[in-house]
Amino acid sequence: MKVGVIGTGYVGLVTGACLAYVGHEVLCMDNDAGKVERLRQIIMPIYEPGLEEIVRSTVDSGALQFSTNMADVVGQSDVIFITVGTPSRPDGSPDLSAVRAVARGIGQHLDSRYRVIVNKSTVPVGSGNWVRMLVEDGAQLAPVTSGDGGGVALAPPKTDFDIVSNPEFLREGSAVWDTFNPDRIVVGADSERALSTMGQLYAHWTAPTEPNKAPVPMVVTDLSSAEMIKYAANAFLATKISFINEISNICERVGADVTRVAQAIGLDKRIGSQFLNAGAGWGGSCFPKDVSALVNTGLEYGYECSLLKATLSVNDNQRKRIIEKLQRELRILKGRTIAIWGLAFKPDTDDIRSAPALEVAIQLLNLGCRVVAHDPIVTAQQIKGQVPDLQVSEDPLALLDNADALVLMTEWPQYKDIDLSEVCRRLRQPILIDGRNCLSPEIARTAGLTYVGVGR
Ligand SMILES: NC(=O)c1ccc[n+]([C@@H]2O[C@H](COP(=O)([O-])OP(=O)(O)OC[C@H]3O[C@@H](n4cnc5c(N)ncnc54)[C@H](O)[C@@H]3O)[C@@H](O)[C@H]2O)c1
Repeated sequence: MKVGVIGTGYVGLVTGACLAYVGHEVLCMDNDAGKVERLRQIIMPIYEPGLEEIVRSTVDSGALQFSTNMADVVGQSDVIFITVGTPSRPDGSPDLSAVRAVARGIGQHLDSRYRVIVNKSTVPVGSGNWVRMLVEDGAQLAPVTSGDGGGVALAPPKTDFDIVSNPEFLREGSAVWDTFNPDRIVVGADSERALSTMGQLYAHWTAPTEPNKAPVPMVVTDLSSAEMIKYAANAFLATKISFINEISNICERVGADVTRVAQAIGLDKRIGSQFLNAGAGWGGSCFPKDVSALVNTGLEYGYECSLLKATLSVNDNQRKRIIEKLQRELRILKGRTIAIWGLAFKPDTDDIRSAPALEVAIQLLNLGCRVVAHDPIVTAQQIKGQVPDLQVSEDPLALLDNADALVLMTEWPQYKDIDLSEVCRRLRQPILIDGRNCLSPEIARTAGLTYVGVGR
């Protein structure tokens, strides 16, 4: 099938490359001309394991192309994905301006051929109808003249399209693997024709031809339910982490070990072991904005989301707990140098949107500390625009010289292999705050460090 993808970021690029890999003809479009030019040269705009290889092979085979031209994408595609960002506004509601611009733009280039317009951006319930309206508005704005060069205005072309909601569940850091191995594919639509098109598009997953491959279930719903499924999934996972963080705070007070508690309750199949790691809390481009957006939707419809508000507030407090731990160990923070390991919001990504490490770094800088940090992938250049006073080192050990404490904020696996005796030798004061509970307290203490975890 001919597929267009508008917005070539984390979701758009991975979706486009994977659909090309399974045999579709994909044109990925972005309004960032520099990004498109770099992609044509196979320079990745993001760090994502396995992505470069797939982009390279699909570009080489001609299945994947890049463009800045909306008319080309709409003109040649049967299915058009909207995958632009929907970041939070200061009041917690999602900023839908990119979705609005793209929906109108699609409308302006539609003709009478049937298209399926698929919303993959995370958008509030009701957005399917709103996008349909914007596409229709766009079609009314289409510049139409007679083809004889006389410039005579005609009526806008008759359009024929359906809107589908197809929320995305990939995780940054394993986005390619997740796209090839999803737990389910959710498709919300109110037209049989659109559903049949989506069935063909995802046939590689739902009707695999390999003998030992199980089909991925396709959950078919109305538009609003599909939109709600995405928010409900993220809100549940965020709540699960805030729950274990709440338990960790009680564990600290009563002398229990939250890691043992989490392990034992996670063995209960009704609970499950994932998303039960206590620590500095969740961040990233999805959980914070999606939980806030759901609270906002509740308010719009006269409902107070008290559980979700508590989820957000427990998470905010986890950052403060890291600062409190430093204050407990060092007393005065003004004039101290604090080293941070890990800046990305989680391992295997270079995404620093709402990264807990940056929030802690900003709080420490505001308290008068010098803050030095290391991350295996995030660059000093990325940080400069956001937190200019944060110093970034390429060596995880060198930044410990003259530091008064080390705080581990992202559980990159390489930190687990570093010799903690060397860490102890370099630090001015041997204090290690393990904000992810990912190091062994015993090994750290044997190395001479004062180990402080979360809830243990
Ligand atoms: N990142 C994730 O892990 C993830 C997972 C699931 C769902 N989502 C959702 O998917 C959507 C996209 O997220 P993302 O992380 O890929 O965002 P992103 O910021 O990485 O990518 C968005 C892209 O859209 C482009 N863009 C913006 N306006 C445009 C326009 N008018 N025309 C063409 N291109 C335009 C930007 O230049 C950018 O490349 C969001 O709604 C997000 O909530 C993200």
